[in-house]
Amino acid sequence: MPRILAFAGSTSSLSINKQLVSYVLSYFDNFEIDFIDLNDYEMAIFNVDREKKDGIPASALALAEKIDHCDLILISLAEHNGAYSAAFKNTFDWISRIKGRKAWGDKKMILMATSTGARGGVSVLDIASKRFPINGGNVIATYSLPSFNDHFSAEFGIMDDDLKSGLLQTIKNVKSALISD
Ligand SMILES: Cc1cc2nc3c(=O)[nH]c(=O)nc-3n(C[C@H](O)[C@H](O)[C@H](O)COP(=O)(O)O)c2cc1C
Repeated sequence: MPRILAFAGSTSSLSINKQLVSYVLSYFDNFEIDFIDLNDYEMAIFNVDREKKDGIPASALALAEKIDHCDLILISLAEHNGAYSAAFKNTFDWISRIKGRKAWGDKKMILMATSTGARGGVSVLDIASKRFPINGGNVIATYSLPSFNDHFSAEFGIMDDDLKSGLLQTIKNVKSALISD
């Protein structure tokens, strides 16, 4: 059974990106799902002196191990001032410093973003989808959900027909890409 490592690029307990990940995962039955919370992988702010003194934090090593043991990574990124949340960027920076690895381990990735605004986190999505391939991320699909509060309900999920069919098509494409391997 293919294994998905999923998380939101947010540490908010009410994270809308986490809600989106949870919803999307409901379409991946027949997959082994490892849905983690970045709060459980908290690490000190990256600092070259700290790296020299203490090495890579255990949380970064643990997350890298999870990356190595999955077939697909699903991330939904919170957008803060047009870019990654500080917690996500810090995690990414530390993982990129582990010797002898590409941060994303040459894994297939689905990158998503949602925000309360009309742009749906497309700035951070654009940054990540351009950058991650340089760090060994094989980005096979992206999806943005704009105006989360208008388009998503806990009970019904994505309520807008076009936005929902866009997501379902994306999921279909991803499953085909995994099967064709
Ligand atoms: C510091 C900060 C900066 C933000 N900057 C943006 C932004 O640039 N674009 C945007 O669409 N939303 C922005 N937002 C709104 C977030 O997208 C919104 O808080 C969203 O809930 C974050 O996702 P999360 O709930 O998964 O953490 C910002 C929020 C914070 C706290």
